[in-house]
Amino acid sequence: MGNKIRVISPGRVNLLGEHVDKNEGKVLPAAIDRAINLSAETRSDSILKVKALDLGESVEIDLTHLDKKLDSMGNPLPSWAHYPAGVAWSLQSGGFAVKGAEVEFTSDIPMGAGLSSSAAVEVAFAVLWQAMSGWPMDRLTLSQFCQKAEVEYAGVNCGLMDQFACANGVDGHAVLLDTRSLEFKPVPLPKNTALVIADSAVRRSLQTSAYNDRVIDCQIAVAAAQKRNPSVHSLRDVSVAEMEAMKSQLSDGVYRHARHVVGEIERVDLAIRCLELGDSITFGKIMFDTHASLRDLYEVSCPELDILVEIASGFSGCIGARLTGAGFGGCTVNMVEQSKADEFVQYLTDNYLQKTSLKASVFITHASRGAYVE
Ligand code: GLA
Repeated sequence: MGNKIRVISPGRVNLLGEHVDKNEGKVLPAAIDRAINLSAETRSDSILKVKALDLGESVEIDLTHLDKKLDSMGNPLPSWAHYPAGVAWSLQSGGFAVKGAEVEFTSDIPMGAGLSSSAAVEVAFAVLWQAMSGWPMDRLTLSQFCQKAEVEYAGVNCGLMDQFACANGVDGHAVLLDTRSLEFKPVPLPKNTALVIADSAVRRSLQTSAYNDRVIDCQIAVAAAQKRNPSVHSLRDVSVAEMEAMKSQLSDGVYRHARHVVGEIERVDLAIRCLELGDSITFGKIMFDTHASLRDLYEVSCPELDILVEIASGFSGCIGARLTGAGFGGCTVNMVEQSKADEFVQYLTDNYLQKTSLKASVFITHASRGAYVE
């Protein structure tokens, strides 16, 4: 029998800086107290057996044959298994050996809800293999290997935010990450506030292709900006005024999608100044502004998310609310006065049910530490 290792790897919520991590903007996510709970027993060979207990599925993978995305019998890997296999493949491509293990995991992170359940799985396996082999690796690098797995193995062209947040969360804090310089720092959340997450119960199947389409539109806007100023590298280098000046040269969709990103990058700087000054009211207003921008400009909201935000805005202890993560369904994040959080949960659940006939899952969450070995 091999050694036993247990890894806890959290999901994340993003407070501000939505859809800017492919454009070198700053993001402000927090790891949450919903997590992947993984237990492993090491093996002495290169076979990885994984049981996804919540799905009732298992897979056996030969870690020396990952390129073709097949299990050890030659069958295509189920999509959830692309995450552990992808992380092994990504680490190997960086020269880090990964060893066989018998693994099972469960999760209380809602799946496909914009809370980074897949990044949490990736980070859990990376932390497991690091614990098994002991190679030195900082958490930023570890999250970059996980991002590479998601982009190049699982085929989702995401930014670094999710894997970074799951790996680098800090108890009671959001973590500000500059996706250009890769500098990051914990930022305390406003005192006496709670983070409440509301899962709309809506899932959109076209999320990945729409995500990629928006990324391409931003690249088109960057190319147009470069014609005016060759030193532009990303939308981080474009101001709102420059965006307005370019408007007539861009299609309406490209303009609006890029305009969201440019505005959102400015909003994050403003929001950080508010936090430093203890001004949670303006911070919350910026959250509402971000939602409007994601809805009207970036076009990644949906009626149910808009209804959740609208209901939240009518509650006197709700400081700010917005969709969180990629959008197209999933969750909203709400900053609420601590003393009114329980009442808010009930208020949002009841009113959403009444307006949509859908049962939202609304829960209070706490900013938590990143993945760890228990
Ligand atoms: C998804 C991606 C992230 C980020 C968000 C939107 O969660 O994985 O990299 O782009 O969408 O902010």
